[in-house]
Amino acid sequence: RRWLLAMGSAPHHDRLRHVGSGGISRLNAVVLGEALAAEENDLVFPSHDFSRRAHISSPEQYQNMYERSIEDPAGFWSDIASQFYWKKRWNPEVCSENIDVRRGTVKIEWFKGGVTNICYNALDRNIEAGNGDKVALYWEGNEPGQDAQLTYAQMLEKVCQLSNYLKNVGVGKGDTVIIYLPMLMELPIAMLACARIGAIHSVVFAGFSAESLSQRIVDCKPKVVISCNAVCRGAKVIHLKEIVDTALAESVNSGVPVDLCLIFENKSAMKRESTKWQIGRDVWWEDVVLQFPTKCLVEWVDAEDPLFLLYTSGSTGKPKGVLHTNGGYMVYTATTFKYAFDYKPSDVYWCTADCGWITGHSYITYGPLLNGATVLVFEGAPSYPDPGRCWDIVDKYKVTILYTAPTLVRALMRDGDEYVTRYSRKSLRILGSVGEPINPSAWRWFYNVVGDSRCPISDTWWQTETGGFMITPIPGAWPQKPGSATFPFFGIQPVIVDEKGNEIEGECTGYLCIKKSWPGAFRSLYGDHERYETTYFKPFAGYYFTGDGCSRDKDGYHWLTGRVDDVINVSGHRIGTAEVESALVSHPHCAEAAVVGVDHEVKGQGIYAFVTLVDGVPYSEEVRKSLILAVRNQIGAFAGPDKIHWSPAIPKTRSGKIMRRILRKIASRQLDELGDTSTLVDPNVVDQLIALIDR
Ligand code: PRX
Repeated sequence: RRWLLAMGSAPHHDRLRHVGSGGISRLNAVVLGEALAAEENDLVFPSHDFSRRAHISSPEQYQNMYERSIEDPAGFWSDIASQFYWKKRWNPEVCSENIDVRRGTVKIEWFKGGVTNICYNALDRNIEAGNGDKVALYWEGNEPGQDAQLTYAQMLEKVCQLSNYLKNVGVGKGDTVIIYLPMLMELPIAMLACARIGAIHSVVFAGFSAESLSQRIVDCKPKVVISCNAVCRGAKVIHLKEIVDTALAESVNSGVPVDLCLIFENKSAMKRESTKWQIGRDVWWEDVVLQFPTKCLVEWVDAEDPLFLLYTSGSTGKPKGVLHTNGGYMVYTATTFKYAFDYKPSDVYWCTADCGWITGHSYITYGPLLNGATVLVFEGAPSYPDPGRCWDIVDKYKVTILYTAPTLVRALMRDGDEYVTRYSRKSLRILGSVGEPINPSAWRWFYNVVGDSRCPISDTWWQTETGGFMITPIPGAWPQKPGSATFPFFGIQPVIVDEKGNEIEGECTGYLCIKKSWPGAFRSLYGDHERYETTYFKPFAGYYFTGDGCSRDKDGYHWLTGRVDDVINVSGHRIGTAEVESALVSHPHCAEAAVVGVDHEVKGQGIYAFVTLVDGVPYSEEVRKSLILAVRNQIGAFAGPDKIHWSPAIPKTRSGKIMRRILRKIASRQLDELGDTSTLVDPNVVDQLIALIDR
């Protein structure tokens, strides 16, 4: 743990604070006693006041807690877990794990034998502690002025009604329920209602197409699909029910019929009279759920019973159903939320993500509500009706913690400071970033303009698979470096390995792996434990492989460098190149496709597709548009390629492998860095591709 030593030996920030209290301190060589010229050595300190009030206010305090979490994980996590309600305490053994494939099946268990319920801990427990009248959810609709709120007590009633309804229609412990809803309060309500009765929810982001939805339905065979008739996003109305109808028709064809579809009438977007209806299958939420009692007994579940499935992209065309269980996930999301955002009961917390992604699971629904926090749920688009909307919302609800993605930061930065500065934003005290590396210039704009140079930024690195934050600033504890996710959370042992899987010490760059398990870790891929082992635990035996590259600087700070596998990160959305390729080749005019990621000013990465058309079909603007449409229809609008590059052929090695390295260079126009092309079957293909760059 060299980085700890490095941090321990770094001068304490108290001694340095005079250099620029609260603002960006461009510490110079004189102060640190060594040359710190590079940008990544800019240190940004929390103010005295911030640190003093923080849960963790110094590197030493963090270090002590971190060391205990590594040396005595059982004691560390037991103490934290004891703050929750357990119907039955776990076995004396807190964790049993094997993440080393060489020792047999990979198996991770935390708090095994413990019996609890995450919904009970998020709602009933907080109400019993006297917080029934505290606002649990604020809801801001698509149109300014459209809003609602629910206290913890009111939310529990809504959850119980839905739980009772689900039980009444035969949903029980271990059954799956698909939730395909936009950001209405009914989305977290539906998640908690499933959790309350031990059902496994699988939320599908409402931007996914019918095809993607049906693929997930076929995989997890839900008893019920919960959705709504329509939603407004910005100026657009999206008819979700029609997408559901198409998906359900497709799943019937695949032999997985769904008998019950519970539809919420989202009146502001569409009236029920205009909604197409399948009698016998479709039911209006408002007609049935509201008739059920507002109290519902909890189904107590084992810590290792499944809580939810969330599909995510990998390097094949088939999305993976990431499986999380109850106990460890509960303890981990709550604890990471508390420390990385220095959460206090007076906070108003807003995360701009959607509950359709892991960020919304862990840090809209579970982590914050487990802490008894007040959470803002926003239905609309961040630049609607104008690019000042976010700051208008911050002022309206006096948001104190704002958690968002670099892509939104860059988009708003492009729109100009005046949209930000016309609002007060005085309530803000912490900012957060997630989904992709945040480039230092976006970091600085976020820090200086949005946060008026006084709000620490928690740049949280984690994944669907990890359940919660893995490498993250602890905002009151140590100085930040713009663009670095800093240090590991408690219990997390990140290592950087070389191609052969050897750990590299000190300043280095390599593949990011994690040693040992942590409570929030996923336990399997739904129905495919073998793929779980192969994808994550076999590449570097003895470790969990993240799929990310990472550098560690001489002070031990971590700098994530992006995916090293065939996954592209577009606006913080994870998309497998294979999924886009398979959508393209399903188009009748497309013979072959190869997709790579390319730098994109706002989205982080864009999708660049090399496409070979079938013989006799000429390339045209019309074909280009219909290829893009094919991907939007098959996956979702967010996955539409940014560029189609007409390719008479695709460069391949003699063994038939696509040379993506060369395609990446062509896509990013680094034409003088193509490297060795002699192993290609036909090196002339490369010249042809270059000649067609601007077609
Ligand atoms: O490449 C990393 C990137 O997002 C990937 C995980 O994507 P997903 O499972 O969809 O979860 C996104 C929200 C947690 C990672 O493998 N990533 C996420 N957060 C960061 C990041 N890259 C750099 N810095 C981050 N803070």
